[in-house]
Amino acid sequence: MPRTLSPMNVLGVESSCDETGVALVQCEPGVGVPRLLAHALHSQVDMHEAYGGVVPELASRDHIRRVVPLTRKIFAEAGLALADVDLVAYTRGPGLAGALLVGAGVACALGAALDRPVVGVHHLEGHLLSPFLGADPPEFPFVALLVSGGHTQLMRVHDVGRYELLGETIDDAAGEAFDKSAKLLGLGYPGGPALARLAEFGDPSVFDLPRPLLHAANLDFSFAGLKTAVRTRLQGLGTRVCEQDRAHLAAGTQQAIVDVLVRKSVNALKATGLRRLVVAGGVGANARLREQLDAECARQHVRVHYPELGLCTDNGAMIALAAAMRWQRGRAAERRGLAFDVMPRWSLQAAA
Ligand code: KG4
Ligand code: ZN
Repeated sequence: MPRTLSPMNVLGVESSCDETGVALVQCEPGVGVPRLLAHALHSQVDMHEAYGGVVPELASRDHIRRVVPLTRKIFAEAGLALADVDLVAYTRGPGLAGALLVGAGVACALGAALDRPVVGVHHLEGHLLSPFLGADPPEFPFVALLVSGGHTQLMRVHDVGRYELLGETIDDAAGEAFDKSAKLLGLGYPGGPALARLAEFGDPSVFDLPRPLLHAANLDFSFAGLKTAVRTRLQGLGTRVCEQDRAHLAAGTQQAIVDVLVRKSVNALKATGLRRLVVAGGVGANARLREQLDAECARQHVRVHYPELGLCTDNGAMIALAAAMRWQRGRAAERRGLAFDVMPRWSLQAAA
């Protein structure tokens, strides 16, 4: 059991991919929204950019370099000592095995040294709950649109740890569609923000791009055909392709992804009868998606909640938060001792 009853300090460590994130969250026993005390992040984007994507071995090595200085920084910022930590949380999966092992090793070593319990958190649960750290936290139950680099899922969320999958992508994730199309357009990594920037100069109606499964009766997604369509249009333009064409293509790609995400989210709200939508994951930072979802949700009299912009992509705050919210409900699966593991492949439903 945790050392104290009130309040409880939770340290979170995220290292599943190319961002090292650490954070301290404080929560009270029972059900109140946990409070973010401090968080720090180091993005490896500059390091991986030269390779056009994440190089797993480089990612692991960089996590090792960053995690301890970042941890020192947040303790100083929060005015806390290591001994003030009551629970240590880390991203157990899914993600890159070597990268995950760094966070797991640090968290479990700290837990053992301090004699505190340790919790392995599902990365997507972190994303899913991240809007609770915002100025306008949602209430359960809600429909969640989870749009990250590797996942695109619609879920009915009853409570923490009670997730019902309504639909998901049958091939590429929305973030992957952004990234792969951006690469075809000659944009850097990560492609999502770069494509969104270029799209501002384009007209989305110039190139008619596919919106796969838009009218399908189910809540599944398919984005693999979109990048193929972008490639075909680029090949059609050949050497005549100019900067304006590329901007039109970027705008068309973004609009196709956004149209599908918005329509399917509305369908999920209708199918469940719920009137609250939570958007989480890196693609949730996309301004066009937010704009269109806001307009559509206002029309449908649905409340929509997003994470703060800085907490849309990977961070330690969402990991500490997920552990804290689970702990408040007696669902934290805390462990003690020296053994630790990671789950590079792990479904959220299996984790619940
Ligand atoms: O959630 P996340 O940080 O990492 C995973 O858990 O996968 O999501 C990263 C994804 C990348 O595909 C990135 O291109 C996309 O989120 N992304 C965006 C934007 N910011 C990040 N996509 C579109 N527009 C953005 N502004
Ligand atoms: Zn993520």
